[in-house]
Amino acid sequence: MRAELLDWYDAHGRSLPWRETSDPYAIWVSEVMCQQTRVDTAIPYYHRFLERFPTAQALADASEDDVLAAWSGLGYYRRARMLHAGVKEMVASYGGELPRDPAARLALPGVGRYTAGALGSIAFGLPEPIVDGNVARVLSRVFRIETMLGKAATEKALWAHAEELVQGPRPGDFNQALMELGALVCTPKSPSCGACPWAERCEAREAGIQETLPVPRKKKKPTEVSLTAVVATRGRGAAREVFLTKREEGELFAGLWMVPMVESPPTQLELGERGASSGGDEALRCLHEHGLRATIGDRCGSVIHVLSHRRYSVQVYRATAAKAAAKSAVTRHRIDALAELGVARLTEKIVDAALPGER
Ligand code: ADE
Repeated sequence: MRAELLDWYDAHGRSLPWRETSDPYAIWVSEVMCQQTRVDTAIPYYHRFLERFPTAQALADASEDDVLAAWSGLGYYRRARMLHAGVKEMVASYGGELPRDPAARLALPGVGRYTAGALGSIAFGLPEPIVDGNVARVLSRVFRIETMLGKAATEKALWAHAEELVQGPRPGDFNQALMELGALVCTPKSPSCGACPWAERCEAREAGIQETLPVPRKKKKPTEVSLTAVVATRGRGAAREVFLTKREEGELFAGLWMVPMVESPPTQLELGERGASSGGDEALRCLHEHGLRATIGDRCGSVIHVLSHRRYSVQVYRATAAKAAAKSAVTRHRIDALAELGVARLTEKIVDAALPGER
């Protein structure tokens, strides 16, 4: 089975930038980026990130602001913060060298079973298994695993198959071949079984149930979160400044710069026009809570933003700011500097709703 897959990978695997390097740090960056992000999307970020932080030492020395700025747009910012923490620990405890010992690798911040295995196999050529979404799909079809993803028995079976299969030559290539097969051939819908090196062995295909496997986890409905955001500005044109605040540790979007926001009662959104005045009250409360003196202007509509577990509905207000109170965490930033600062997509949407075309 191994040889069949490796032959297929040698013929059909994509040439991806992180397949050209043996630097464990660069491979680490690539693996963290590729969790929850498509490979095609990750590639330009990978290049930019490594240009900015070419070595583990460079990343360890960087400020969190700079790291988040380089990650800006990729989403799931916790990944960047954990990568930063993990690399810092590697520099502090291991002189910047990734430990070969699997237990030591697993103990690094942000390094779970998947990342530890990806690094062990790809960077060191150790026979360590990995299971990500693509691998889970391939294995549950080939071995006809009909229990639900995420269940203990399912995960145990997947990891056991991955562990057994990875033993042998070229474990790093083998793991990447598994992911590649899932990405290119054994796709969630309409898999290209005709192009699959394992088609003859695939138990799901034999039973004609390849499209029904794996059995997906039950999706929870995202939590609805209603927010009121105030885009407070000073000056005009290119010199226009926006007031931003850095989200605190433990908050959502921690470490990122955002416009002042408060969570608002959801009912207010359903009040429509009658809600406009209470919406204004929320905007005032937002200013007050952030220690910002400003005159509330127009309501600029609402922004909807959906993440994996939350659905944000944000009422956006414009305001003209006088100034921030001395002890306020809100600071002014030129509107054309938002890109370098690194802001979440949600912030961009809110600023665009209030000041179209100015960013
Ligand atoms: N997804 C995560 N890591 C990957 C890799 N090394 N190659 C292809 N897809 C991936």
